[in-house]
Amino acid sequence: MTERPSSGMESEDWLDRWENGCTGWHEVDGNAGLKSHWNVDTGSVLVPLCGKSPDLLWLAKRGHEVVGIELAEKAIHEFFAEQGLNYLKVDGEAMPTFRSESLPLTLVCGDYFEFVGGPFDALYDRGSIVAINPAIRPDYVRQTKALLKPHASRLVIALEYDQDVVNGPPFSLLTDELSDYWQDLERVGVADDIDNCPPKFRAAGLTNIAEVVWRSSG
Ligand SMILES: C[S@@+](CC[C@H](N)C(=O)[O-])C[C@H]1O[C@@H](n2cnc3c(N)ncnc32)[C@H](O)[C@@H]1O
Repeated sequence: MTERPSSGMESEDWLDRWENGCTGWHEVDGNAGLKSHWNVDTGSVLVPLCGKSPDLLWLAKRGHEVVGIELAEKAIHEFFAEQGLNYLKVDGEAMPTFRSESLPLTLVCGDYFEFVGGPFDALYDRGSIVAINPAIRPDYVRQTKALLKPHASRLVIALEYDQDVVNGPPFSLLTDELSDYWQDLERVGVADDIDNCPPKFRAAGLTNIAEVVWRSSG
């Protein structure tokens, strides 16, 4: 296994959050930016660090072949239970893999950095790159690019705030850094996220946080 610097939030911390129900990032109704800005008609979609997001269901219902990767098996079971979907465990995969019986939707349980699959036609990233410590984001982006087709469509929903006031996760991702990773993404939407951010952010005095939607132009 390749050595990686600490993410600042270890696998155990994420699993503890799932065990203790500390999943404040979860959006019961899915993400508004996805519904407003998704412009891909067909093809497979990679969803890294997917949690139990209803966005997976939204994409699969549009006919996309959706593959989500998530560390916590608890999240995967909660996803299928909450969405009322039956699933099968797929035999013979390197990581535990669960497939919906009725929709083109597969959830893989394991470390995203170890995942092998694709290449995918599109990327949907919400709460994923911002969950990764900036120190290892280049590794995250390298892995993501390796899983995508060369001209894959991408929708990345990031957060912008002053990290001198409070530290992540979720970590801020400003335009310059994002442009280092993806040169061709356009800023297509911005929403005030102060009411949805972790309470510790407001307690630390943060007054501005923006949820920014970035989309590939192709
Ligand atoms: C902030 S949550 C976002 C979940 C989802 N994208 C959403 O919008 O609801 C980050 C998720 O990534 C998972 N995770 C963290 N590190 C991971 C890794 N290395 N591989 C796979 N999943 C990981 C966590 O368990 C958690 O569910």
